[in-house]
Amino acid sequence: MYTQALSLEKQQNTSQEDPERLSRFQARIDAEERIEPTDWMPAAYRQTLVRQISQHAHSEIIGMQPEGNWLTRAPSLKRKLQLTAKIQDEAGHGLYLYGAAETLGVSREELVGQLLSGKAKYSSIFNYPTLSWADIGAIGWLVDGAAIMNQIPICRCSYGPYARAMVLICKEESFHQRQGYETMMALARGTPEQKDMAQDALNRWWWPSVMMFGPPDKDSVHSEQAMRWKIKRFTNDELRQKFVDATVPQAKYLSLEIPDPELAWNEATQHWDIGPIDWDEFWRVVKGDGPCNRQRLAAKRAAHEDGAWVREAAEAFAAKRAARRTVPIAAE
Ligand SMILES: [Fe+2]
Ligand SMILES: [Fe+2]
Repeated sequence: MYTQALSLEKQQNTSQEDPERLSRFQARIDAEERIEPTDWMPAAYRQTLVRQISQHAHSEIIGMQPEGNWLTRAPSLKRKLQLTAKIQDEAGHGLYLYGAAETLGVSREELVGQLLSGKAKYSSIFNYPTLSWADIGAIGWLVDGAAIMNQIPICRCSYGPYARAMVLICKEESFHQRQGYETMMALARGTPEQKDMAQDALNRWWWPSVMMFGPPDKDSVHSEQAMRWKIKRFTNDELRQKFVDATVPQAKYLSLEIPDPELAWNEATQHWDIGPIDWDEFWRVVKGDGPCNRQRLAAKRAAHEDGAWVREAAEAFAAKRAARRTVPIAAE
């Protein structure tokens, strides 16, 4: 029913929506009211959320792969347990977010189908390979760290189900960031070889992490409207700056060097200035030409096919339980 309603709304252009209704909607947003699934909302608001929440869900799911690469090679039982728990958390985040997207009238099959066909995007950072154990530390520290910067403001997103999902997710991301930093600390304070490994991981993950906040504000097509709707609370560049400011002292504490010769403290702005970002690389990876794009999708497709029997069994079990519930008590 929801899906039908959505496709009907998709046919409408926002400009055809009643201006009265649109301004009432904006007034609710301005008053910091939460929008809930059964409330009226502009078609473009719904579409923006479906796109953002599903991209976020896909990122959580694909993000399990680079880390899964090290599960069987974690250096100790403690590290293996931590990594297993973290990867399970990410799966949970994905499911939570698919659930939030479904409240907007789109089915999970459709969303997963978009991921498998390559139509949907996910965070480009997961198209980079994990070449050493230190990469697991760097991902927790930098990638989960960047994710937290992005996601804490979403706890105040105008759309209720997304905002509420984000509260739990942020708590877990914060644990991920700490385990990553602690892994980096163990390496940075270990043997010279371990410290080199940590530095090499930082060298490779720094710029992709800085790019996680998306294109600069001047080129960001969705930003302005998303800010007005309070889906976004800070611009890409503002979030990037917060991340850089928080991370530079953390690198110093590890005695590791951020791979940016132009990194400098700016006394006037009280922020760290960074050198130019290679946006060509960013767009190349977004468009499918990163080091691991094909590998990630192929692995996801294979896992989806391999899991077909699990979905069938779960459906058969659910149908059996439902049938049992409909049997009148007297007949049992
Ligand atoms: Fe996550
Ligand atoms: Fe995480």
